[in-house]
Amino acid sequence: MFIADDKRYDKMIYNRCGKSGLKLPAVSLGLWQNFGHKGSFANIENMIYTAFDLGITHFDAANNYGHPYNGSAEENFGKVLDGMKYYRDELCISTKAGYDMWPGPYGDKNGSRKYLTASLDQSLKRMKLDYVDIFYHHVPDPNTPIEETALALDNAVKQGKALYVGISNYNKQQTEAIMKIFDELHTPFVVNQPSYAMLNRWIESDGLDKLAEEKGFGLAVFSPLYQGFLTDRYLKGVPADSRVGKGETWIGSQLDDKMVAKLNKLNEIAVNRGQKLSQMALSWVLNNKAVTTVLIGASRPEQIVENAACIEKLNFADDEIAAIEKILAE
Ligand SMILES: NC(=O)c1ccc[n+]([C@@H]2O[C@H](COP(=O)([O-])OP(=O)(O)OC[C@H]3O[C@@H](n4cnc5c(N)ncnc54)[C@H](OP(=O)(O)O)[C@@H]3O)[C@@H](O)[C@H]2O)c1
Repeated sequence: MFIADDKRYDKMIYNRCGKSGLKLPAVSLGLWQNFGHKGSFANIENMIYTAFDLGITHFDAANNYGHPYNGSAEENFGKVLDGMKYYRDELCISTKAGYDMWPGPYGDKNGSRKYLTASLDQSLKRMKLDYVDIFYHHVPDPNTPIEETALALDNAVKQGKALYVGISNYNKQQTEAIMKIFDELHTPFVVNQPSYAMLNRWIESDGLDKLAEEKGFGLAVFSPLYQGFLTDRYLKGVPADSRVGKGETWIGSQLDDKMVAKLNKLNEIAVNRGQKLSQMALSWVLNNKAVTTVLIGASRPEQIVENAACIEKLNFADDEIAAIEKILAE
């Protein structure tokens, strides 16, 4: 059995998820890539233990995460949780359904009650849990009435299979629409999960971040390192074992000379602040008051240690912000 570091909660800060009672660590660990059966289980276990020892209490899963088959990340997470049973009440575990999961009309990309209900049951079995803390609809489905999706999420709570509900990849307008139904049902909707990074600021132009502050829901933002661009991984080329090197991302083609020059300029600012580029990128995201937590990914424990230390320097001087804005606008 895993025995966690007694000092873990002194190493992290916890932010209230919107106006809800739920607190999330400023840095959370996502299980999208590198947690399936393709890699080493020892490394997966080490990453999860390392995260928890740093006070990272929130782990973000989804039904379809993991290679070589959907669900393998949840299976491995369930196996790691076997050794962490004692800590279940110290963990906030989320999962999602919405993207393609299993063959046929009930497991493809959709938001039906049929799919969401069956998928959550499967996720609970794979992770060997009685309930998840947050159950998300992963991506809006224009072909399912939004009332049906909202009711399916609400029902997961009524059945005791989820404590809170979330939505992911919903823009401001889509969020406002589903929130009307959550309000009528008194659904414990607490969080939206959009992408957000220095290199991806759509939530600012869309107004989703302002809506979160106004309405009191949290934002758990994904790919805050722009899938690894905003680290020292690509400053001097593309390592073969990186996400871009392995061809495991659709944004690899954006890593041209202009982008590498931009990353090196941002890195200079980070070094002058006494941070790694990864840490500055995460501090910058957390500087948006609407953001509750950054959902980081990792391929090794050392990356989690480095990233969690972003909380040591969250503030930016005005001239640092101005210099960053200038580079981002180039
Ligand atoms: N809701 C959604 O639709 C959605 C979509 C995507 C992700 N997510 C969630 O967000 C989580 C994070 O997404 P992401 O993996 O794209 O996030 P990310 O944090 O932007 O990128 C993570 C990758 O960056 C590299 N990296 C991380 N820290 C590093 C460091 N300190 N130094 C060097 N390289 C570092 C690693 O890639 P290498 O493999 O190159 O080492 C790592 O796998 C997912 O696990 C998932 O939970 C949700």
